[in-house]
Amino acid sequence: MGKARGGRVTFDPERVVMSGGATGANETIMFCLADPGDVFLIPSPYYAAFDRDLRWRTGVEIIPVPCSSSDNFKLTVDAAEWAYKKAQESNKKVKGLILTNPSNPLGTMLDKDTLTNLVRFVTRKNIHLVVDEIYAATVFAGGDFVSVAEVVNDVDISEVNVDLIHIVYSLSKDMGLPGFRVGIVYSFNDSVVSCARKMSSFGLVSSQTQLMLASMLSDDQFVDNFLMESSRRLGIRHKVFTTGIKKADIACLTSNAGLFAWMDLRHLLRDRNSFESEIELWHIIIDRVKLNVSPGSSFRCTEPGWFRICFANMDDDTLHVALGRIQDFVSKNKNKIVEKASENDQVIQNKSAKKLKWTQTNLRLSFRRLYEDGLSSPGIMSPHSPLLRA
Ligand SMILES: Cc1ncc(COP(=O)(O)O)c(C=O)c1O
Repeated sequence: MGKARGGRVTFDPERVVMSGGATGANETIMFCLADPGDVFLIPSPYYAAFDRDLRWRTGVEIIPVPCSSSDNFKLTVDAAEWAYKKAQESNKKVKGLILTNPSNPLGTMLDKDTLTNLVRFVTRKNIHLVVDEIYAATVFAGGDFVSVAEVVNDVDISEVNVDLIHIVYSLSKDMGLPGFRVGIVYSFNDSVVSCARKMSSFGLVSSQTQLMLASMLSDDQFVDNFLMESSRRLGIRHKVFTTGIKKADIACLTSNAGLFAWMDLRHLLRDRNSFESEIELWHIIIDRVKLNVSPGSSFRCTEPGWFRICFANMDDDTLHVALGRIQDFVSKNKNKIVEKASENDQVIQNKSAKKLKWTQTNLRLSFRRLYEDGLSSPGIMSPHSPLLRA
């Protein structure tokens, strides 16, 4: 964990509790901190599977802190304060704030000042702060990643109640080991460490996996090289992708971390204000361009037309094929994309209104199933990784 944060912070092994991936870690921390019905605030857009991981078995509720494109989706203390008030007005007990830093789906990271102010915010409100730092070592530009652990070390102790601060981590992204199911709850609060340790029986990492990883991770040079090379390659890949997609007049939110880009396709929507138009475009991209991207609404984005595309889980050839298809599609269909979709709908409607209704219901259902059953399940959303194929 220290290496993934550039060696700027050290972690106490006694505070590490293992779990089944960050998925298990996120659920464990909810069980430790909250009762059913308690609320956590989460800046939106947020990782789609939080709705499953944090809520399903714990009964915890999520209230989004909406972030807007007009501000590059930046989280502010004012926005957190607004959501806190809103929750209180509906008689909800706010137990904490959850951040994903760097962000999935945005690929951006919080600057130190914002993070420090958010630490002060939770201390003021006496609520917990859980920071999911699963993408800590994916930063490829824009300065160093700042872990909440660094902020806790730096901020004057009278300004922060460290008992409220918890980190979720995993080897899934930084080390590219999602299948190993190695997650971590790291808490500055002794009671939470003790509670999480008891809960960890439900998601233990096998001893064989631990033995193998201990041997791998204790090779300092290997880990240093791996992390450096991985972020270097992510940076190159991000550049190739964003430059390529720009040729199709598609812009992405400026980002510097993560495995994905947040694409602005608002200009391709039939109706810029409608999430139905977003889902319509999503289907067009799947059916005609044959690419699986994730619509912003699945991340609870409040503005239709944003899509997350993962650029890291394929080889170079596949990336170029994908970029070529997008460029080709946009250039052939400029301004006609959505009109064509509606023309098609008309033809089908004429043929059989009944069949169309069936199709629409099933598309909607299948989207809802993807959404509810775990849109982010790797099997559904990601093409098979080269490793898996091999
Ligand atoms: C923000 C975030 N948290 C947690 C997870 C789940 O990670 P894991 O595979 O370690 O369970 C993901 C996976 O995409 C994620 O993006």
